[in-house]
Amino acid sequence: MARLALAPMQGLADDVMREVLTAIGGYDWCVTEFIRVTDALLPARAFRRMAPELDNAGRTGAGTPVAIQLLGSDPVCLAENAARAAEFGPLAVDLNFGCPAPMVNRHGGGAILLNDPELLHTIVATVRRAMPPQVPLTAKMRLGVKDTARTLDCALALATGGAAELVVHARTKEEGYTPPAHWHWIARIAEAVAVPVVANGEVWNVADWEGIREVSGCADVMLGRGAVADPLLARRIKGEAIAGAEAWAVVEPALADFWRRVTAKLEPRHCPGRIKLWLGLLRRTWPEAEALYQRIRPARDCAAVEAGLAAAGILPAPVA
Ligand SMILES: Cc1cc2nc3c(=O)[nH]c(=O)nc-3n(C[C@H](O)[C@H](O)[C@H](O)COP(=O)(O)O)c2cc1C
Repeated sequence: MARLALAPMQGLADDVMREVLTAIGGYDWCVTEFIRVTDALLPARAFRRMAPELDNAGRTGAGTPVAIQLLGSDPVCLAENAARAAEFGPLAVDLNFGCPAPMVNRHGGGAILLNDPELLHTIVATVRRAMPPQVPLTAKMRLGVKDTARTLDCALALATGGAAELVVHARTKEEGYTPPAHWHWIARIAEAVAVPVVANGEVWNVADWEGIREVSGCADVMLGRGAVADPLLARRIKGEAIAGAEAWAVVEPALADFWRRVTAKLEPRHCPGRIKLWLGLLRRTWPEAEALYQRIRPARDCAAVEAGLAAAGILPAPVA
């Protein structure tokens, strides 16, 4: 059976979102938000904070295994941190070569490294040597910085350096998140390298999933924003016919669960933004979410969000 992954998404797919989406189901693995490595060996608590699943044998509550993603550019420092991350027993350690954020790129990390395939090779080889052999090292890349001139060089550098699997987000850094994703480039990469390739980019529904598999020739797919916009997408892809009111009846308790977990984890002032962010994506696919989004959008504090969720029947009405 083809595998499905939940993509790493900083600020969106934190442990709370991973917990909620993998509980709904359909995912074979998920990946943490990137953990930034600069010049120090991070303390154990830094890994635990970004990946609390490490204290649950590296799995979400639903049992979905979690890979830890690192972002950085210094081979030795990445290697030391990867070795430490590996001690916690994650599914894999993944290296980020796709982040387009200017702040990250200015410090030489993320997608900007795609200008330098030799450095990519050195990073992956150094990290691989430092890690215990039983923990896989994987890498996630975009097609390049400005264009696809060095795409295949980069993919080959990662694979021959020791990455056991590549996830390809089929856009350049400069393309950001602008559609389309160039799925045919994933096919070119998969033909060039000897390791499995996971296809990623612009999969919002089952038809897109069929499309990316057909064009890329890859069986395995990673879902990013589409997974958050439609929490049932992975289950639909795996063949479950669930739609309409029956489907929304799964999403509603997930929203309640999400809110409970967000308020337990974050400072109150950060909580309303998190549920608005999710509803903002959910409303792409769900009319019910549009109504809820409009209701909650003006909320400035947790009490106002809770009143909105209660009015929609998602949380119990507050006791007067
Ligand atoms: C809000 C957001 C945060 C992201 N953070 C990360 C990250 O931490 N690490 C990473 O490798 N990719 C990150 N990505 C990229 C996604 O993993 C994925 O490659 C991209 O969204 C394309 O897939 P999609 O079209 O299915 O969303 C992020 C994307 C978004 C939208």
